[in-house]
Amino acid sequence: MQIVHDIRALRAALDPQCGKRVALVPTMGHLHAGHLALVQLARSHADVVVVSIFVNPLQFGLGEDFSAYPRTLLEDCDKLQKAGVDLVFAPTVIEMYPEADDQGLHQSVLIQPPAFADQLCGAHRPGHFAGVATVVTKLFHLVRPQMAVFGKKDYQQLMVIHALVRQLNFPIEIIAGETSREASGLAMSSRNAYLTEAQTTQAPQLYGQLQRIAQALLAGERGYLALEHSACTQLQSDGWQVDYVAIRNPVTLTLPRTDSTAWVMLAAAKLGNTRLIDNLELAVSLP
Ligand code: PAJ
Repeated sequence: MQIVHDIRALRAALDPQCGKRVALVPTMGHLHAGHLALVQLARSHADVVVVSIFVNPLQFGLGEDFSAYPRTLLEDCDKLQKAGVDLVFAPTVIEMYPEADDQGLHQSVLIQPPAFADQLCGAHRPGHFAGVATVVTKLFHLVRPQMAVFGKKDYQQLMVIHALVRQLNFPIEIIAGETSREASGLAMSSRNAYLTEAQTTQAPQLYGQLQRIAQALLAGERGYLALEHSACTQLQSDGWQVDYVAIRNPVTLTLPRTDSTAWVMLAAAKLGNTRLIDNLELAVSLP
């Protein structure tokens, strides 16, 4: 496995792979089993698997956890080597943002995500999805993969990436990986490392509320607002600071109709200082 930190070395490593099927798995590192499952998915589709590890400052807002975000490159590379990865691209900030200095990144050319990115996480993290779309565009240009793997764990992000590829005509197939969970139901996340032991025990409540909504929908309930509200209230009374609990159309992220047969339930909430997100898809067949 080769590890490169700059664009010139990346190109030199990729040149001999010309003609092979290359898959990219973009990450911010501190890798867990969910990331490694995406790597396996990439491995099963491609000849060459490239993993990028870059904590992207452009997608963090002021006061968010950019500085605190766990950086564990050596351990990550060890896991990736065992997973059969061919190439790791772990650039510095200046490599990805060539105009960056002490005053800022000076990345004035940004990819503007579609309007649906302004709601849900986008409403609570202004600029976040523009930062994601911009860095993913850069990675696509640099690696030029035939396919790229993203997790459903970040459902809205996955929808933004689909729109990005469609609307900017990237010749890249997007492969979506299912969310990997702990036995407790908690979605794996690099940010779970911030949780105390007590919070880790409590954290599965977020997924629990999404499952409760799914059960209500399966039972024929269609009062979406009431379902969202009741999940919010329950989480708040358990000590969560809730950003949103939302029931949406799984393709467009618009509000579902009473005759909808497919939904995605999405939630974001803070336990202490740690912001967790999760989602659950549900479809029923017509009678
Ligand atoms: P990061 O949070 O490191 O996630 C990297 C990839 O792993 C994303 O596609 C994410 O959806 C997926 N992932 C995270 N937890 C998962 C889980 N429990 N199960 C399955 N997949 C999971 O998402 C990002 O980084 C960044 O925004 C990035 C796309 C790299 C752009 O900077």
